Amino acid sequence: ISGRINVAIDGPAGAGKSTVARKVAEQLGYIYIDTGAMYRAVAYAAIGAGITPDDSDRLGQLVQTLKIVLAPGDEGQTVWLNGENVTSAIRTREVTLIVSQIASHEPVRLKLVELQRGLADAKGIVMDGRDIGTHVLPNAEVKVFLVASVKVRALRRFQELSGNEAVPLQQLEQEIAERDRSDERREISPLICAKDAEVIDSTELSIDQVVALILDLCRTKTVEAK
Ligand code: CDP
Ligand code: CDP
Repeated sequence: ISGRINVAIDGPAGAGKSTVARKVAEQLGYIYIDTGAMYRAVAYAAIGAGITPDDSDRLGQLVQTLKIVLAPGDEGQTVWLNGENVTSAIRTREVTLIVSQIASHEPVRLKLVELQRGLADAKGIVMDGRDIGTHVLPNAEVKVFLVASVKVRALRRFQELSGNEAVPLQQLEQEIAERDRSDERREISPLICAKDAEVIDSTELSIDQVVALILDLCRTKTVEAK
């Protein structure tokens, strides 16, 4: 494929965004950027600093002191926070339960969006999140809104859990639904489908099928771009 493009993948929790975004990037030789990991890193730092998730002012100050680096690693990407490898620490339940509230504050979003746009300055980026097609990269050549039923999404997350963090499936489903609602209802850059995004419902699709659909969209766009 000649002519590099940018690919934006948005959607609710557990729809498969990071899994397919990583594979699409791999196939195209592009760079994958997980913006959710950045919000998670801020949430993790807030816990460490004893800042409550409703404290917009202190979160705004905190985010200015954070150096967040995403580096390609064996398992997708490694996340560095002020020199500390936080790749697994940002995936804990403790972080997951507060990240949506952390991400609702304007100073936090302004800072991270600036960082994300800087990373996508050159084309050849696959970025996933909640507001990539609508706000971060409105000119992305390919925009995908990836959805799946909340039941399937909860089940996928359930299967990822290790024994020592066992959470009942029903509770997981409730927490996912609640996080979706909070992401959809926030004032700044809520989770919504961009007008020009392609909706893909992965409820009954395999990872490879979703990847193939997105690669098809990319091919059409790169042919047009020639
Ligand atoms: O992987 P999972 O779907 O659990 O979530 P994530 O992509 O790691 O994102 C965690 C949270 O960060 C989301 O629930 C949103 O509240 C927030 N987020 C956001 O507000 N904007 C983005 N571009 C990415 C994530
Ligand atoms: O990033 P997001 O929260 O949207 O989802 P994810 O972290 O990629 O998690 C999706 C989980 O569902 C992973 O364990 C995938 O292996 C699995 N899965 C998928 O991503 N897509 C499918 N079509 C089927 C399963």
